[in-house]
Amino acid sequence: MDPKTVGSVVKYGRWRFGMTKRAMGHSLVYSQLYPFKGLQNYTSGIVHHVRLTGLKPNTFYLYQCGDPSIPAMSDVHYFRTMPASGPRSYPGRIAIIGDLGLTYNTTSTIDHLMSNHPNLVLLIGDASYANLYLTNGTGADCYSCAFSDTPIHETYQPRWDYWGRFMQPLVSKVPLMMIEGNHEIEEQIEKKTFAAYSARFAFPSEESGSSSTFYYSFNAGGIHFVMLGGYTDYNKSGDQYQWLKKDLAKVDRKVTPWLVATWHPPWYSTYTAHYREAECMRVAMEDLLYKYGVDIVFNGHVHAYERSNRVYNYNLDPCGPVHITIGDGGNREKMAITHADEPGNCPKPSTTLDKFMGGFCAFNFTSGPASGKFCWDRQPDYSAYRESSFGHGILEVKNETHALWTWYRNQDAYGTTGDVVYIVRQPDRCPVEPDVIN
Ligand SMILES: [Fe+2]
Repeated sequence: MDPKTVGSVVKYGRWRFGMTKRAMGHSLVYSQLYPFKGLQNYTSGIVHHVRLTGLKPNTFYLYQCGDPSIPAMSDVHYFRTMPASGPRSYPGRIAIIGDLGLTYNTTSTIDHLMSNHPNLVLLIGDASYANLYLTNGTGADCYSCAFSDTPIHETYQPRWDYWGRFMQPLVSKVPLMMIEGNHEIEEQIEKKTFAAYSARFAFPSEESGSSSTFYYSFNAGGIHFVMLGGYTDYNKSGDQYQWLKKDLAKVDRKVTPWLVATWHPPWYSTYTAHYREAECMRVAMEDLLYKYGVDIVFNGHVHAYERSNRVYNYNLDPCGPVHITIGDGGNREKMAITHADEPGNCPKPSTTLDKFMGGFCAFNFTSGPASGKFCWDRQPDYSAYRESSFGHGILEVKNETHALWTWYRNQDAYGTTGDVVYIVRQPDRCPVEPDVIN
């Protein structure tokens, strides 16, 4: 299929003035190839990318996309741009979801999420779960249980199309920013990875000085978001770390007082599932995020909800970030229920290694109440609230110091809140070190 046979055009304009402007983009197709007998290869439909520039902040735009020369144009949609950066300017409601998938639970999550009318959506990895399917479309309920005899872990790429169609009512109206999870790795021929992820989403990598789709940053009003990759090199000598150092050094907290970081596998989850799996990443990066005063961290991966107290290096610290695990979007795998601190549920350290994360760094604690042990014997002090229910979260930054975080559970009526907390910044108590600023 030649993507050049169809134009990539977006007609757009401000709400009151009609779609008088036109932007041209580019298109591509990607393949997912498995050169083994019995496995089906896949080539995508044409994926279009069009960049609209010069948009006014906090403004409604109408748009329609397609190729007017055929003619083949979409319905007319609308969206609202983010507010300009500044300490008194914030998107109203930012929805945070992780590990979404495409199940009955996903439907309920997105239904509840849309009832909260978000202005921006962050998807913290593991979107379609196309890799829980064989190339013939047969599904499985876990990653490892149905594919043991295939030469490479298969995927069923049409799941991405189903997922895209399912998400259209939301993402045609509301900007969505995506960061990769382990289910986006999708290895294929010649160890190629992340083909669907990199082709189907748009990333402001270039704008944020990143050379990769796996990590980038952006501003939304007075919030600077850094989106980090857990499944690419995160070590101090690597490109991501070097980029992050530069990116954080450029942040002007007078313009974007809030600093929010996201990546897929959590550092401070207390569930047995994936317990301390991302420890090498924490060891490599936590100091840097702490030095620059990251306020909130959002993660997915663990299929449950958990909110930490402010924490740094496993100790309560008023200047550490609040870590929120929100991997409860509704995926097809099991929900995480057991906690590592419950009798009999502490995993053996050697079993916590994840082959996609690289390295083993999870050793027994050397200090604190769990000193000499791998797990606490009660809910750790850094774990403020945890619950195994599907849901989504909404972040509402109110001003330079106060943000309201609300977790909504799928089993509740619209608007009924689960976990609610104000996250309060204390810039006077926790100044970013002067030597870091310079
Ligand atoms: Fe995951």
